[in-house]
Formats: sequence, structure tokens, C-alpha cells
Amino acid sequence: MSEASLNDRQFFGHPIGLRTLFLTEMWERMSYYGMRALLVLYMTGAVTGFNPGLGWSQLDAQAIYGVYVGLVYFMVVPGGWLADNILGHQRAVLYGAIIIALGHLTLAVPLSQTFFLGLALVVLGTGLLKGNISTIVGKLYPDDDPRRDSGFTIFYMSINIGSTIGYGICGYLGEKIGWHWGFGAAGIGMLFGVYQYVRYQGLLGDAGALPNPMSDEARGRLVRYTQIALTLMIVAIALSLMGFVDINPRIFAENFAYFLTVVAGLYFIFLYFFAGLDAAERKNITLLFLLFIAAAAFWSGFDQSGGSLNIFARDYTDLVVSGFEVPVSWIQFVNPIFVVIFAPMFAAVWAHLARRNLDPSLPVKFAIGLIFMAISFMIMLAAVALAIETAPIGMRWLLLTYLLQTWGELTLSPIGLSAFSRYAPKRYVGQMFGLWFLASAIGGVLAGLLGGEAMDEGLASMSPVFTFMIEYYLAIAVGVLIAAWLLRRKSAG
Ligand code: PHE
Repeated sequence: MSEASLNDRQFFGHPIGLRTLFLTEMWERMSYYGMRALLVLYMTGAVTGFNPGLGWSQLDAQAIYGVYVGLVYFMVVPGGWLADNILGHQRAVLYGAIIIALGHLTLAVPLSQTFFLGLALVVLGTGLLKGNISTIVGKLYPDDDPRRDSGFTIFYMSINIGSTIGYGICGYLGEKIGWHWGFGAAGIGMLFGVYQYVRYQGLLGDAGALPNPMSDEARGRLVRYTQIALTLMIVAIALSLMGFVDINPRIFAENFAYFLTVVAGLYFIFLYFFAGLDAAERKNITLLFLLFIAAAAFWSGFDQSGGSLNIFARDYTDLVVSGFEVPVSWIQFVNPIFVVIFAPMFAAVWAHLARRNLDPSLPVKFAIGLIFMAISFMIMLAAVALAIETAPIGMRWLLLTYLLQTWGELTLSPIGLSAFSRYAPKRYVGQMFGLWFLASAIGGVLAGLLGGEAMDEGLASMSPVFTFMIEYYLAIAVGVLIAAWLLRRKSAG
């Protein structure tokens, strides 16, 4: 299609290529969240009964869940590197989508032996897809195009429409018919995404089509490094799948959390001290560091939806609505539906405040996000107390918890990524997606570790862990505010 006719066709006033990406991300998130909702239910489900699960302990299952979520977002970093230097973003998204579909279809096979292979494929595929697809969204627009921000807002809708469909279909099939039917539905959803992407990839034009220019020789060297890394990774995955390396999920999760923290820490140290930045740029790095900590803490609460709160819904909540027992995963509908409802209102509030010059600064918004998260777990504390007296309790407790978390998400998440690209030193903008996803990765592993502790002894162990979480969300919120205030004062002086 010629450049001119490409420009003619639009998607809600945006470049038509946004439609391709919108639908691809929609199906990808459908499969991701649909499967994620079933994951701990399947791992901890009783081994007997009409829909046998794996019968694992809460500690192990939640740790595996955390490592899975952590790896998914961690892999966005090498996935971005691969797209930048070797594959180009468009091809990376295509390969990623195919590998994700294979992963879910592997999970659909009713064998426990192929379970980790399926998870590993979803991790690798999402690493190739999730960050790179957002990069292409950004590249659809010329540098100074004012539509870019609203383009990302539309894109964020696709994420939430996708997860709504995923919870609905995969949750229902997985819980009511059989786990593997739910996983299979996720795979088929992703296949729709692949079909749609292949058919309409042409509409993307040259946005993200080619990797960074470099000499054949240089590229050849990178390809060789990649081959070596890939071989090592496949060997490691194969050895652990075949049971040659004995892995304790909990210890693995703890070490993975340390590993991610060290990686992020080293990267910030590099940026601050060794990247040749001037004073103003260094100040921005300090700001990003604060936002990074706040974001990681926030996601560690947010990802409890697929972990501990999912189990709370299953074991202590009355799910019967006019005679029909709602699937456990359906409670998670609340988040994406509330995002779609409240996103325009939040945008309007920020715009209104901005017109009066009252728009809160980034650290203040991040602190507000954490405070919403803290309040959501205060509600859970009350819910736990009530459940100790009379379980099962009504659904409204979880619904309210998710509502507050969604308000937190809307204060923190949509601005987070743009903050990282705006305040990154120019030469490092490309890597900022990676840094932003690294915060999600740390949050994911912490969610698994905390969720395991919380559910270990049922209701008795929840209150101390939730209390601890509330305290650390509030402590980080206050810490971020004070540090940001000091930073501001220092630069004013
Ligand atoms: N719902 C969002 C998504 O799946 C949550 C998220 C935000 C995940 C930022 C990672 C990074 O995209």
C-alpha cells in the first residue's frame, strides 16, 4: 500500500496501523490474563475431583506464580534488545505471538510434565512481544505528533478489553469444564491475534520494521552472541524441565528477586555515575529511581489479584449470584472494567487540575497510587477479620479492594511509562521501556513471595502479611514524597 493511502485510513483519528497493534495486544492480554487467572487455582487445586489440579502448597504455587510473572516482564529487556539490534520490532512481535500461542497450547495438553515447558514458552514469547509492540505504537507517529499520548491511551484500552475477554472465556472454561480447556482457549485467542497481525502487518508501514543500522560485521557478531545465549538458555531450561536441577520454587523466587534488584541497582548506578550525564540529567535519574521503587512496590500488591486474592476469592468468598456460582476468576473482571470506566474521568481530573496549575507532580501521583494500594489492603484486613468470624463473606469486599487498586493503577501506570521516556537522558530513551518493565518484574516476584506467606496458613497468616504490606506501601509513599521534596529544594537552592 502506498504511503499516501496509508495516511488516508484512520483508526479513531489515529494511524490505521494502531488497529493492528490494538487487536494483537488485545488477544495477547486475553491469553495472558485468562491463563494467569487459572494458574494458582490449577496449581493448588485438589488432585482428585472432576477437575483435578496439581495439589501443590500455597508457598510453592505462589512462588512459581511470582517467578512466572517476574520472568514475563524481565524478558521484555532482552526482547527489546533483540528487536533493536537484530530482528526489528515488527518481526519480534510476530515471533513472540507465535511462541506465546505455542506456550498456551502446550499448557492445554492435559499432562503435568509439560506444564513448565508451556510456561517457559509464554515467558519467552511475551518477552518478544509486550515491550516491542508498545515501541511500534510510539513509532507510528512523527516525533512531534500530539496524538501520541492519546494513541497510548487507546492502546491501554486494548489491554483491558483483552483481559476482560480472557477472564470471561478462559476463567469459565478452565474452572467449569477443565483447566486445560481454559489454557487451550488462551492459545486459540492468541492464534486469532497471530492471524490478524499477519494479515494487517502491512498497515504498520515501516514503523519498527528494521533494526538499528549497523555494519554486517557488527550485526554478525551480535547474532553469534545471541545464538550462544539462546543455546545456554535452552540447555538450562531443558535440564531443569527434565529434573536434573532440583529447584525449590521458594528459594528460586527469593534469588530471582535479589537478582532483579541487583540488575536494576547496577543499571541506575551506571546511569548515575558512568553514563557521562550532567547535573540536570542526574537529577532526573534520581527522580526515576524514586518512581522505580514506588512502581515495583505498587505492582507487588497489584499482582496479588492472580495470587493470594484469587485464593481468597475461591476459599472465603460467597460466589453464588442468583443460583449461579460465578467462576473465581470472574472477580478479576473488576479491574479491567473499572479501568475502561474510570480512565476518562482520571484524564479529565488531571487535565482540569493542569489548567489551574494544580497538576500533582510525578512523585505525588506515585505516592497517591501507593496510598490507594495501602487502603485496598486495609479493606482486605477487615475482610479477613470478618471471614474469621463467618466465612464465606460477600463479594463486595474484593470488589472494593480491586476498585481501589484500579484507582491506584490509573494514577500511576499510564503516566509511568511516559515519565520514563520524558526524563530519560536522550541516548538512553530506548532502554527505558526495559527499566519500566523491570519494576513490574520485581513487583511480580515480590507478589509471589508475599502471597505465599499470606496464604500459607489460611486466614491466620493473612493479617500479619497484609499489615506488613500496608506499612511498606505507606513508608515508601512517604519516603518518595520526602525525597522528591528534598530534590526540589536542592535544585531550587
Ligand atoms: N494491565 C497492565 C498490562 O498488562 C499492567 C501492566 C502495566 C503490566 C505496566 C506491565 C507494565 O499491561
